[in-house]
Amino acid sequence: MQIVRTPGSARAVARTLARPVGFVPTMGALHAGHLALVERARSENASVVASLFVNPLQFGPQEDFDRYPRAFERDASTLADHGVDLLYAPGVDRMYPPGFATAVDPGPLGTTFEGVSRPGHFTGVATVVVKLLHAIEPTSLYLGQKDVQQTAVLRAVLRDLDLPANVVVVATVREADGLALSSRNAYLSEPERRSAPSLHRALAAIAAAVRRGERDAQAARDAGSGLLEAPLRWEYLALVDPVTFSKRDPLELPAVALGVARAGATRLLDNETIPSEDGVDPVVTPPRALPAAAERAV
Ligand code: PAJ
Repeated sequence: MQIVRTPGSARAVARTLARPVGFVPTMGALHAGHLALVERARSENASVVASLFVNPLQFGPQEDFDRYPRAFERDASTLADHGVDLLYAPGVDRMYPPGFATAVDPGPLGTTFEGVSRPGHFTGVATVVVKLLHAIEPTSLYLGQKDVQQTAVLRAVLRDLDLPANVVVVATVREADGLALSSRNAYLSEPERRSAPSLHRALAAIAAAVRRGERDAQAARDAGSGLLEAPLRWEYLALVDPVTFSKRDPLELPAVALGVARAGATRLLDNETIPSEDGVDPVVTPPRALPAAAERAV
């Protein structure tokens, strides 16, 4: 696995890789959720590129940028073991040199839900991902369902800016008790960790009520909101359209049950998708066979 540190060297090396190229952007502190994206990219492409960059632009002034877990050496060797061909790990000074001032504003989708709780977050995400895509020029971009609003924002940004990558969304990877894997789970105290799986249980109960035919949004939320266990408390809980993230009442399918629970200063984020009658998941991309030509190149 080659490691590059600048946009110019990332582009030069990425252009030598066999196509199709799958790209997995990360902020490091890798866990099995990130690795599911890498494995999926590996199975669908001739080459895989990952990036590791803790992006200051997507953290608010009161957020955890400084204490965000960093483990570069371990992450790099994990990615190499998982068959990544190229790791792009720029320094902040190369990503945002002095005078850097341009931003990609994703519009209304970036100012609802996570965008309310974290003003500027999605502008930071969109800006860095556009820069990463320009450097890597991948065939497909691999994202996790866990950050479902991020997948909707980035789909819209790629469409609006005519960026040619396909978006592939991989289902959320969970602990055995249902808690979605997250680098931030490390911040949880013991009682918080014990209650944390109740977030997924609550969202699953809401999704189940809707699947059984409940179309009243408040009644559907009531089917799960009480399952959240103290000391966790709701920051938001909603049923939304998977593309626009607008609330609908009466509910229409497909939909996404979205929730954020707070455990002290830590925010736990999760969601459960609800397909329409055709059974097609509105967010997660079904696996694709590796094109025959690419298989020869592996
Ligand atoms: P990060 O939080 O490191 O996540 C990198 C990718 O891993 C994202 O697409 C995220 O949705 C996915 N992921 C995280 N936990 C997951 C889980 N339990 N199951 C499946 N996928 C999971 O998301 C970011 O970084 C940044 O915003 C980034 C896109 C890299 C831009 O800076």
